[in-house]
Amino acid sequence: MELRVVSGDIVEIEADAAIVNLFEGTESPGGATGAVDKALDGAISRLISEGEIKGKTGEVTLIHTLGKIRPERVLVVGLGKQGKFTVDAVRSATAAACKVARRAGAKRVATILHGTGAGGIDPALAAQAIAEGSVLGLYTFRQHITKEPEHGDIEELLIVDRDEGRRSVLEGAVDRGQVLAEATVFARDMINQPANYMTPSDMAQAARNVADFGLECTVLERDEMERLGMGGLLGVAKGSQQPPKFIVLRYSGGDPAGGTMAFVGKGLTFDSGGISIKPSERMDEMKSDMSGGAAVIGAMRAIAQLKPKINVVGLVPATENLPSGSAVKPGDVLKAMNGKTIEVANTDAEGRIILADALSYANKEGFSPLVDLATLTGACIVALGNICTGAFTNNQELLGKVIKAGETAGEKMWQMPMFEEYKELNKSEVADVKNTGGRWAGAITAAQFLAEFAGDTPWVHLDIAGPAFIDKERGYLTKGATGVGVRTLVNLALALAEEHS
Ligand code: BES
Ligand code: MN
Ligand code: ZN
Repeated sequence: MELRVVSGDIVEIEADAAIVNLFEGTESPGGATGAVDKALDGAISRLISEGEIKGKTGEVTLIHTLGKIRPERVLVVGLGKQGKFTVDAVRSATAAACKVARRAGAKRVATILHGTGAGGIDPALAAQAIAEGSVLGLYTFRQHITKEPEHGDIEELLIVDRDEGRRSVLEGAVDRGQVLAEATVFARDMINQPANYMTPSDMAQAARNVADFGLECTVLERDEMERLGMGGLLGVAKGSQQPPKFIVLRYSGGDPAGGTMAFVGKGLTFDSGGISIKPSERMDEMKSDMSGGAAVIGAMRAIAQLKPKINVVGLVPATENLPSGSAVKPGDVLKAMNGKTIEVANTDAEGRIILADALSYANKEGFSPLVDLATLTGACIVALGNICTGAFTNNQELLGKVIKAGETAGEKMWQMPMFEEYKELNKSEVADVKNTGGRWAGAITAAQFLAEFAGDTPWVHLDIAGPAFIDKERGYLTKGATGVGVRTLVNLALALAEEHS
């Protein structure tokens, strides 16, 4: 789909459908929607007074224009209550309207800039949100479906604005939104891919492909991991026929003598639980256990395109977790790259084991700050559902920046406690630390385990087990992989680069 900013009046644009909007409770629409209403002889106001259009979030009403204006159809999308309006509502409204337009067979769609009048939103932010909402909302994953889709794709989305003077600003915003959304789509594709199509080697190949945007990609193989002492990653990989990969993607946009921030993503291309095998119900969803890794690779792709003045490295330990005669067993002890020993009390708590090596590697290389993303615990889903990410840190200031980057992206986070007392639960009788702390506070003890390997380096851990993969679409998030974290990480890199300059 091509996204374009055009100067002009929405009623005069040639399009199969024109998207306008309405706040909940508005009786007579104003602005661009008001102008369309007038040209349609009050059709929209009539539908409002009849109670057919309420302006509720996600509501879309299709009206045929019968030659009264240039666009063939008008789609009135609800923006919800004006008092609760956010930029994220623009993403969701755009997604909802675009999906209705696609179903109606529209190829060329025009939209007004939502929320910039009564909503009081910055026009550039609205334009970016429209780009993100349309690309993310229209996403489908059909690679393995041989049947043609019922509806073709929208080919063009025109963002129509009367103020010619701000066109280049809006174009920049649309470009940025498109880069962010396409990087998220890239991550979604990796995650939705079945595990037999997205092995650790396939993940490494995806990273190499992304490197074409201007990154340096190195993939550490088993022999190199052995040399570095990555006993955690090697241990988890022991049950699988697929060789593990440790992916390093480097972006050098900052001062060569300056520091480098690291994004670390859990890359479990399939998590069966290993010898501590999971129940078979919904085990198929564990193809998504590399969502953190995919988000990191997606974010690096966007960073390479947006070119902030900062150095960032993406680290993805990738492996399968399978049971076999050679698999790591409950009770085994592994030695991580930083020398700490880990008792594997449960082979299904594998994510923290491979992240232990990745965080150790980051520390050895001197990267700082560190942000990791992982579908780490079912306990985090119990605590927060799939609405938000659980956030943990050893550095409140850094977490503040991560939460802010998330807000800008429309990705919610909620901080969880890191009280010292929780550390007790990870104590082992045979090793330095145990990989499970029991059922209580499962998301926190997992984070406390990681903290042992982050050390004193400023670090944020994001447990995305809930929001990474959803069973029902929501706004611009489609069913299955959401690509959560990509836009937050990119926003963080942009914000830190801004801070340094
Ligand atoms: N990948 C899972 C966590 C998960 C579960 C993510 C469901 C998304 C949906 C992780 O490796 C895991 O199995 N965690 C265990 C840890 C336990 C054995 C201490 C869990 O949460 O049950
Ligand atoms: Mn597991
Ligand atoms: Zn896992």
